[in-house]
This record gives sequence, structure tokens and C-alpha cells, in this order.
Amino acid sequence: SLLQRGPSCSVTTGLLVIGCLLLVLCGAWLLGAVFWLHNPNQQEHKPPEACSLIPEAWRFDCYPERGVVVTRELCEARNCCFIPASTASSSASRPSGKNGIPWCFYPPEFPSYSVVSLNDTLLGQKATLVKEVKTYYPGDILTVEVEMRYETDKRLLNHKLFSIKITDPSSSRFEVPISVPTVANKTESPDYIIELSKQPFGLVVKRRSTGAVLLNTTVAPLFYADQFLQFSTSLPTQFIYGLGEHRSTFLHDVHWNTLTMWARDVPPTEQTNLYGAHPFYLAMEDGGNAHGFFLLNSNAMDVVLQPAPALTWRTIGGILDFYIFLGPDPGSVVQQYVDVVGYPAMPVYWALGYHLCRWGYDTSNSTWEVVKSMRNYGIPQDVQWNDIDYMDKFMDFTYESKKFDTLPDLVRDLHAHNQRYVMILDPGISSTQPEGSYWPFDEGVKRGVFIKDAEGKTLIGKVWPGLTAYPDFSDEVTHEWWYDNLKMFHNKVAFDGLWIDMNEPSNFLDGSTSGCPSNNLENPPYTPGRRLDLQQRSHYKHTIHLGFMGSSAFSALKRIVAKRPFVISRSTFPSQGMYSGHWLGDNRSQWKDLYTSIAGMLTFNLLGIPLVGADVCGFSEETQEELCVRWTQLGAFYPFTRNHNAISVKPQDPTAFSPLARTAMKEALLLRYSLFPVLYTLFHHAHVHGHTVARPIMFEFPKDVKAYGIDKQFMWGKSLLVTPVLDPGVDYVDGYFPEGLWYDYYTGDCVTSKGEELRLNAPLDKINLHLREGSIVPTQAPNLTLWVSTGQPLHLVSALSQDGSASGDLFWDDGETIDTYETNQYAYIIFSIAQVLSFMFLFCLFSASFYGVKEKPSRVLVNSQDAPFTYRTNKVSSEFLLLLFF
Ligand code: NOJ
Repeated sequence: SLLQRGPSCSVTTGLLVIGCLLLVLCGAWLLGAVFWLHNPNQQEHKPPEACSLIPEAWRFDCYPERGVVVTRELCEARNCCFIPASTASSSASRPSGKNGIPWCFYPPEFPSYSVVSLNDTLLGQKATLVKEVKTYYPGDILTVEVEMRYETDKRLLNHKLFSIKITDPSSSRFEVPISVPTVANKTESPDYIIELSKQPFGLVVKRRSTGAVLLNTTVAPLFYADQFLQFSTSLPTQFIYGLGEHRSTFLHDVHWNTLTMWARDVPPTEQTNLYGAHPFYLAMEDGGNAHGFFLLNSNAMDVVLQPAPALTWRTIGGILDFYIFLGPDPGSVVQQYVDVVGYPAMPVYWALGYHLCRWGYDTSNSTWEVVKSMRNYGIPQDVQWNDIDYMDKFMDFTYESKKFDTLPDLVRDLHAHNQRYVMILDPGISSTQPEGSYWPFDEGVKRGVFIKDAEGKTLIGKVWPGLTAYPDFSDEVTHEWWYDNLKMFHNKVAFDGLWIDMNEPSNFLDGSTSGCPSNNLENPPYTPGRRLDLQQRSHYKHTIHLGFMGSSAFSALKRIVAKRPFVISRSTFPSQGMYSGHWLGDNRSQWKDLYTSIAGMLTFNLLGIPLVGADVCGFSEETQEELCVRWTQLGAFYPFTRNHNAISVKPQDPTAFSPLARTAMKEALLLRYSLFPVLYTLFHHAHVHGHTVARPIMFEFPKDVKAYGIDKQFMWGKSLLVTPVLDPGVDYVDGYFPEGLWYDYYTGDCVTSKGEELRLNAPLDKINLHLREGSIVPTQAPNLTLWVSTGQPLHLVSALSQDGSASGDLFWDDGETIDTYETNQYAYIIFSIAQVLSFMFLFCLFSASFYGVKEKPSRVLVNSQDAPFTYRTNKVSSEFLLLLFF
């Protein structure tokens, strides 16, 4: 630990080398001596009592800069407390000393802001804060304004939303340009109580009904410097979720866990910032209440979780604009969050079918062969994709004229079979083609759509086609240029949807062809990030944002295909769900990645992007047959399911495997297709009400603490519990069943759980699926495409609760027209069973199974007429099958 926190050799390089050599040679004794020489008062030094009184879990890091060995001198120069952490509780296993207990932390009297004026406003209060002393971060702002809004919204936020905006009154700072709905009234009876501490400034937000302290910013000083904005809060719980995009368990670890947010092209890796940035968390309080917190800020930031429990937001620009959602149940928190950032788009029906893709289909014909082979084996497939292989020299809006000469025919053939075609587009536009030969670049330059460097020249980076310019999608002109390009390409290849990749944006250069300017934007005084490797630095330097690429693709497609646009994006930010879905990036063909995909999927459902899934069977590395079968089974329950793999690895589409594996995959996909009415209805609720589609168990059982950490199972809506196999070589799986009756989806066998883990049979061809008591799910006979399936008769599966009741619903429309709900072109049917099943039906063919009917009925009447039925029963189950033909 001395090495981590000992003195730094800050003389010349030569001395540094010699010093370091000596350190190595002389070992611990010399190390101790050097440390003592550097810190002559070390032995005698006693930290002020106020410092010693702060428990380790409550230390807020005063020296968060990475790559600095924090000495007592450095720490005390910041007027902070310096106490080496006790070894026992020091987190030595964490990758960097920065992620354990801080040795340098704020004392209670550290200078901060005080409230000098406080006035009532239409929506709440406005305060002016002043600080006397500048801190060590350049551009410290001494006067800031705080606007507190006690918001009311007619729709669903009534009394549940409290928001705060802290700005610099003397200059305008960057604010994220997403349109947050404004509210007109101040709530008179909020669900929360606000306590304002005036000196130093701090806010305490409590839940009125329980007194739980949801926010308390008095625990550490507020910073508002030009490039360093920071505040901390205590948390009422260790149960924190969200904060994407990271590869982690669904429930975050609060033990000195720093989560960095800065969109970055890196394969899912622990402790690393990934493709998207979502500064939103959901917290489960004692007793099952939940609240949410959203910081609307798009700058690079760190979020530090510590075991107090407490959380620190640390960002390097913009303003502090945050929202607290009072729930009180977890589903409502997500609804309230989505109401602020935007409701997810209603997907076109085929988005929910099976998608097949790979990087490395050499030709359009080889792509076509796979499609034909899928058809021959009778395996459902709605969409075929192409990766960058189809492009001419990897350039957007072109296709390779020899190897992909039959691409337009392939697309026509797909359409003739009710299938769809999606191809990739990257933001980087090749900048090196001879003038006049590549319209997208020439025209882009003409219209001024590309991002400029500090000298006003087009910024040139590097991606697949070589040197590239980057469109500035925040500009309307760019949207029009993008649309024109898409329209022209669509005239050649009638694609149906878009896959937008590399839009963090990815850049293979450090900055641009002219490097990076040396200024404070490129070299901020504080650099968030877990790792400071070269790529990471280059991404900080490459401070361009392509957050609007999704909305640009969405609006262009809407104009071109005049149906609901289908867009899947790698990089995401709050509100992206309005425009696109997301896949979880370049995972590996490993069992661990199979498991972590569930946490990723659940997190994105919390973030308002429910159309999400991981690359089924894994992207990089060779997959194995068993893994691919299990992955296809789990993938059958991803809201978005696409099999995709990297270049140079073997094919991994279902037809590439043994008959046994192929059949198991086909069965899993047929199951998904039969459940399409359920999935489609769930997306309707996501679109209209902000519900999650793939849902953590605890959302349905918020009082069941045993469910809080579960990320090996999940639910579809409130009715279906999915228990996938995530390990090799097993034919069973252990799953947690919250209290109640659960019916095996396939057999109707019933288990009564007291809230316990049960071992389930899981041979290679089975994914366990259970129906929660009291639910009715509409299903359909599956077929090769959803277009065909959706014409099949409905079959209702009902799982009666102990008192014999059940309910469910169905949203149905033509599957592709834009805004059917908004324009009243849909059917919405509620099924309910009390003593009788009642609903208004619209379908001519119909059948229903009822699980849990205790006695064989003597007669069944449908619309007062006797109807045929069958009844079977055994120890654990009963099924009553009713066939109705109208
Ligand atoms: C990176 C994407 O994440 C991956 O899915 C794709 O195959 C490659 N780019 C090539 O386009």
C-alpha cells in the first residue's frame, strides 16, 4: 500500500529511474526510509480529531485524480484530511488504489457554498449560493443559482417529481438538448419533504410516508468549477441499479465502485466505460419502496459508490440538472423517468422476430444461402442483416458490385417471403475518394455537415474505410443530407431498417490526423475513467458527440419506408429509446457473457430502451454448440434477438449445427414466435406507459428482498418467469420462485413456493418458463415469419390463482403503421376470469387452456351455447382445454 500511496518521484527522468531502481533493489526497508524522509513528520503526525471521527465508509475522496500518488503534502495542500486506510478494510484487490477507501478526504469544515437568498417561484424556489474561497480547481465559480421545482404533471408524475437545476448566472453553460416536458404547476402536497441547509448549502429529500432520506447532499461539499462539478449524497440503501452502460451484475456493488460514463468503443469489459452513458439510478428502499435519480448531463463523468452507502457524481462540464422520482414501486420509477426522457418507440412487428447477421458473409449469395437454408429447415427468421462486408471499400451508401452484385435480388427475395433486410451504416464518411466520385463526402462538404476542428477545418479521423469525416448530427442540415443519402441508396437496395454502429464515435486515431490541440478541453484538470490507457486518452481528446445519429436515422427511415422505423444503435444516451433499440456490443462466445447479458438487458429496460439484446451465441471467439443452444434459448426471450458473430470465426447460425442442436434452437424460436402477442402487448405498454418489457423479478415482488440481486432469471411483463441455463454440461437449473403458485408453461404442472429456490429439469432442448398465478397470456401458432404467425388463431393460456381468478390483455394492430395507438387504429382486449372468462373477441378462431381448474366442469357454455372441451388432471396439474370456433 506504500507503493500505492507513497511519495512520487517528481524530479528528472534520470533521477526517477535511479530512484525506482533503488526502491526495487533495497526493498521494503528502504521504501519505508524513503517514505519517512519524504514525510519526516509521518510518525508523529496526528490528523485533526474531526478527520479521525469520520468512519472509513463515509470518507469522500478529496484527491480523485488518477495517476497521482497522493501524499500527505498533496492532500493537505487541498486542506483535506490524510489518514491511510486500515489494511483490513483497504480494498487491495481493486485495480487501482483510487478505488479503495480514500486516504485523502474532505474534512467536515471544507469550504463550500452558502445560501444568500431564497425566493419563491411558480414551481418552487430559487436560491443564490455563494462561496468565499476558491478551491484548487481552475475556473471555480463562486456564485451559482439553484432552481428547485416541485413539479406536478397531470399524467403520472403527480406529486412524485422533484427537480433541481444548478447553473452559473454569469455565463451560459452547455445543457443537454433533449426536450424534457415542462410542467405548469407546483404540487401542493408532494410525496416528499425538502429540507434546505443554508450554511453550508445542502439538500435533504425525504419520502413523506416513511421518512426515508432519499437524498442528502450535506455529506460532502458541492463543487462547481468550470470543468469540475461534484456533489455527493447519502443513499438510504445498498440496492442500486441502472447507471449504464457497464458490464456488471444487475445490482451494483457499492464497495468503492467507480462507474465511468463516457461513450467509448470497447468490448464489454468490467470496470470500464462502454458504448452508452446513462446517468440514472434506481434504488430499492427498506420496505419495498423505490426511487430514482437522474442527472441530465452528457459530459464525461464518474459515479462513485461507497459503502456508507453514498454516491458521488463527478462530471467535467455542463450544469447540474437533476430529477428525483418517488415511485413508490420500481415500475413507477421507470415510468416517471421515461416520462422525462421520452417513451420508447413502438417497434414494427418484425423487429420482434429472429434476426440473423454476421461479419464475414463474403458475398450476397453466401448471405442468401443461409436464408434459404433456414427456410429449408423450417427455422423462423424475420430479418437478414449485412455487416460492412456489403460495402464498397467499407464506404457508407455503396455496395460492392462484384461480390454483392445480387444484393438487390436478395432483398427482393426476402420481401417475397415476408422477410426483411437490415444493413449496417457507420458515421465515418470516407474523405479520401477522388473528387466527384463519392457523393456523400462531396455533398457533405458542400453543405457543411461535417464536424470541424479547432481551426475550422473538417476534422479527419479514421475508421473502416480509412480516413473519414464525421457528420454533426446535432444539425438539421445533416439530417437532410443523411436522408438524401439513404433515399438514394434505398432506390438501389430496398432495405427495411438500419443498424448504426461505431457511433460513440469510434476513431482509430488519437484525435485526428492533426493530433489533438493542447487546451483545457483536451486536457481537463480532472479526467474521469477507470483506465488511462492510450485508447482511453484518445477518446477524451476526441470530444465529438454523435448522440443524434439515432434520431436522424429514425426520421429518415420514417420518410423513406413510411412505416415504423427500425433502428438498432450501439451508442446510446437518455431518450434514445424514442428512436432505436440497442444491442450490447462486442461480447465474447463465453458462458460468462451469456450470464452478463441478462443484467445488460434488464438495465436497458430500466433506462427506457426496452428493445435490447446481446449478440446471440457471442460475437468474438468461436462459439460451441451447447453454448449456442443455451444462448438461442435465452435469446428467444431477449426483447431484441439477433445472432451475430465476428469476422474469421465459424458460422454460428442455427443451420451450422448438428440436427439435435438445430432442432433445439428451432424449438426455442418457435416458442418465441408463439408468444409474439404477449411480447407485442408488452411493447405497447412500454410505448404508452413506460413499462419495462424484460423485467427484473423484484419489479413484480418489490417487498421480497431475496429477489433484489437476481440477474440469472427475469420476467416478461408480470406473468412469465424465464429461468435459462447459464452453465455448461448441466441438465438442470436452480431458480428462485417468489411466494405464490407458479405453473410450468408447457405442462401446467404447478409448484407452490414460499419464496425459495427450486431445482428444475433442463435438458438441452428446454428453457424453463413459468406462468405466474393469476395470469392469462395470448399466444399464436408459430410459423416461419411473424407475418404468417400473426394470421394464426389465438390461443389463451390461463393460470388460475388460488381463488380461481386470472387476467391478461392483448394489444393488436396492423403491426407497422406509425402511431396506431395515437390515431385509434388498434384493438385492446382485456381478458379476465372471475368465475367466467370474459372478453370481447375479434378473432374468428380461438382456443384456450386453463391451468389450475380443480374440478372437471360438467358443461362449458360459450355465449350460452355448449362448447367442446377436454380436461386432464394429475397430482400436480390440471389442464382444461377449450376449443372455440367462431
Ligand atoms: C463493431 C460492431 O460492434 C460489430 O457488431 C460489427 O460486426 C463490427 N463493428 C464490424 O462492422
